Amino acid sequence: MATERRDRDPACETSGSHDGAYDEHLERSRTVWDRWSDWYGMSERDFEPMREAAIDRLALQPGDRVLEIGCGPGVNLERIRDDVDESGELVAVDYSPAMIANARERIDAHGWENVEVRRADATTATFDEPFDAALATLSLSVMPDIPRAVETVYRSLVPDSTFVVFDVRPFPDGPARVLNPFVRRFLRWYANWNPDGDVVASLEAVFDESEVVDTYTHGTTYAVVCEKRDAD
Ligand SMILES: C[S@@+](CC[C@H](N)C(=O)[O-])C[C@H]1O[C@@H](n2cnc3c(N)ncnc32)[C@H](O)[C@@H]1O
Repeated sequence: MATERRDRDPACETSGSHDGAYDEHLERSRTVWDRWSDWYGMSERDFEPMREAAIDRLALQPGDRVLEIGCGPGVNLERIRDDVDESGELVAVDYSPAMIANARERIDAHGWENVEVRRADATTATFDEPFDAALATLSLSVMPDIPRAVETVYRSLVPDSTFVVFDVRPFPDGPARVLNPFVRRFLRWYANWNPDGDVVASLEAVFDESEVVDTYTHGTTYAVVCEKRDAD
C-alpha cells in the first residue's frame, strides 16, 4: 500500500550506453514535447475514447501497482488512479520536463498521494519494485530504441501481468500506403516518431503473448495487449 507522495527530483534518470543517434533522438524528443506541452488539449480530447478503451484492457484492480511510460501531461492519470484506488500505486515517467511539470500540476490539483511522476528516459529507466501492469499510449513509437524500451517494461513487470500499448503508425495495408512517405515525414516532424522502429514486432519479440486487439482509422491507430507469463 502506498501512502507517501513521492515526486522525485526533476534531474533526469537515464542509464546504460547509447550511441550518437540515440542521444540525438532523445534530445529532439525533449525539444519537441516541451514545445507541444502547452498545446496538448486537442490530442487529449481526440484520443480520449481510444485511450479509455486501452486502459479497459488492463482490467486494473484496486491495489494494483501500475507503470505508465511516456505519460505526457498526465492524460491517463485520473482514470488509472480511479481504477487502482487509494490502495494502489501509479508511477508515470516522461522525458520532457514541461510535460512532467503539467502532470505534476494535475497530481497537485487532485491531491493524489499514490501517483508519482518521474523525469526519466523510459527506455533505460530502472525501478525498485516490479509492477502489476503497464501502459504506453502514443509514446512507444517516439522512443529512441523501441526494442530496448519494450525489454525494460517486460523486466519491470511481475509474472502474469499485462502491458497495453496504444499507438500510431503509417497505413499498414491498402492503397492508402502510397501516402506513407508523407505520413512518416509528418509523424517525424510532429512527434519525433521513430522511423526505424516497429512497435508491434518489438512487442511480439519480447512478450510471451501479444495481439493487436483494436484498430482505428484504417489501422493507423491501434491497441496491442501483451502478456508476460510465469517463468514456468
Ligand atoms: C504523444 S505524447 C503521449 C502522451 C500521453 N501518453 C498521451 O497518450 O497523450 C509522447 C510522450 O512521450 C514522451 N517521451 C518520448 N520519448 C521518451 C522517452 N525516451 N522516455 C520517456 N518519455 C518519452 C514525450 O516526452 C511525450 O510526452
